[in-house]
Amino acid sequence: MLFIFLASFLGLSSSFAAAANSNFLTATAIVTDKSNNSAFECWEFTTPFSVSTDAGTTGAATLPFNTSEIVYTVIPPRFNGGTHKAPKLQLVAFLTGLAHVTLPTNSSSEAWILGGSATSLIVAADTTGGGHITTYPSDETTLSLQIPLDGDTPLPYNVISNEACHQTTQIVGGSS
Ligand SMILES: *[C@@H]1O[C@H](CO)[C@@H](O)[C@H](O)[C@H]1NC(C)=O
Ligand SMILES: *[C@@H]1O[C@H](CO)[C@@H](O)[C@H](O)[C@H]1NC(C)=O
Ligand SMILES: *[C@@H]1O[C@H](CO)[C@@H](O)[C@H](O)[C@H]1NC(C)=O
Repeated sequence: MLFIFLASFLGLSSSFAAAANSNFLTATAIVTDKSNNSAFECWEFTTPFSVSTDAGTTGAATLPFNTSEIVYTVIPPRFNGGTHKAPKLQLVAFLTGLAHVTLPTNSSSEAWILGGSATSLIVAADTTGGGHITTYPSDETTLSLQIPLDGDTPLPYNVISNEACHQTTQIVGGSS
């Protein structure tokens, strides 16, 4: 079993570590709604960041997820992934490039994910239903890591909106 620690993706500063226990990860999630259509939600995981004691990241904020495999994917420029469901409940971390996610049944909703940015981690959770459309419209190769979650369950979360997250960071202060 692999444990992945998101701090390295998210570029947290050391000053952040002291506040780790009151900060939470948010992520745009693609879910299946009551009508069996794919829809966006903005999730805030209810497990706070903890402080790493691992060599090399001591003091950094970390949030572990369990996975047994990570798939590194190389997507060509200007690629159309078509309409598809999430093959598994998984995190997807975009390292480079640009992904544009749209919904076949809701043209007023979309998500843009810029690879390598502070908001480049999403949750693909629409494993049933009509699915979503992902295109990669930039001239760059999009590199991504697909990270299925063990047990087919995410960490506990709250839905903070019924659309893609719009923050400029995925790390937010919480009240607890
Ligand atoms: C990861 O797996 C371990 C061992 O099964 C479990 O104790 C732990 O709660 C899991 N952590 C998460 C974040 O799911
Ligand atoms: C939801 O969509 C799937 C196709 O992905 C279909 O097999 C299933 O029967 C649908 N469920 C409902 C409740 O409409
Ligand atoms: C379409 O998406 C918008 C924006 O996310 C949302 O407010 C609206 O409820 C959605 N419509 C349906 C029918 O789900």
